[in-house]
Amino acid sequence: MDQPEIDRKSPYVLDLAHGTYWWCACGRSQTKPFCDGAHKNTAFTPVKFEITQPAQVALCGCKRTRNPPYCDGTHKQL
Ligand code: FES
Ligand code: FES
Repeated sequence: MDQPEIDRKSPYVLDLAHGTYWWCACGRSQTKPFCDGAHKNTAFTPVKFEITQPAQVALCGCKRTRNPPYCDGTHKQL
């Protein structure tokens, strides 16, 4: 698998609490947009990120962002 699976062509806009999160980079997780371990045996690994205070974030759903885990608008070109 050279490319991650496209989950959806729009971001996940979520209100996240303070904490540590793992964004799914492979597109295979059943708990998207977060990693559930399904990337095993693929070339992909999850992206760890920290939320230091409650915040609304737009996490990439298409898995093609150049600024993971955040949406950078690349989904509009898919
Ligand atoms: Fe996709 Fe872990 S399940 S990176
Ligand atoms: Fe992937 Fe926007 S959803 S870049």
